[in-house]
Amino acid sequence: AAVQTPIIAIDGPAGSGKSSVSKEIARRRGYGYLDTGAGYRALSWHVLDLGADTTDPDAVLDALTSFDLRLGLQPDDRTVTVRGVDVTAEIRTPEVTAAIAGFTRVPEVRAYLNGVFRRLAGESGLAGVVIEGRDITSVVAPDAPVRILMTASPEVRAARRGLELGSDTGTVAEAMRIRDESDSHVLDLALADPGVDVIDSTELDFEQTIDAVLTVIDRKINPK
Ligand code: DC
Repeated sequence: AAVQTPIIAIDGPAGSGKSSVSKEIARRRGYGYLDTGAGYRALSWHVLDLGADTTDPDAVLDALTSFDLRLGLQPDDRTVTVRGVDVTAEIRTPEVTAAIAGFTRVPEVRAYLNGVFRRLAGESGLAGVVIEGRDITSVVAPDAPVRILMTASPEVRAARRGLELGSDTGTVAEAMRIRDESDSHVLDLALADPGVDVIDSTELDFEQTIDAVLTVIDRKINPK
């Protein structure tokens, strides 16, 4: 019988550190790393590339029929291709980023992408895969042996994002407040579930945060 790849599901708001933490956990444990945001970004690029309207659910569902996505699982190879075109850089442009909001609430689109993510992780044959993004602990992998919600105070998250983007903290705080509002339904779901371990990194540095995550993983899938 096929052995299910253990999933380490990591959720959290922007600036919670979930991406850098997820990558580092994958590196240290030899796990795969699945950046689900890259999947949403790639779909946005694809719809725009077809000249279609990302706010029209039918157009986006139509675009899925030609959405040939390749998403690597290596923490240090972020290459993303769509229909064989390397879109690794293009999916990070402001235009592609802004257009994603047009379809993130379409249930059929989320269901499609969630299927892609589950298949990629499940068929990887790796010792584990860290899946990172929104609603991963609640919808994508509710049965994962490890489910973690990363949080930090709004101030700390704004400061981290500001550092990352090289922009001023006030502007980032406002942009993040808006993003959080649209994400809050998803976060409530994760918070409501008692099987989710919450890691608040407000008072932790990067190394301490990694330790906290590894402690949860070892408690859940490698008990000594
Ligand atoms: O994590 P990111 O910035 O690359 O994600 C880009 C957008 O994709 C994010 O603003 C919302 C959407 N997204 C989502 O709705 N669900 C996910 N699991 C991942 C991303």
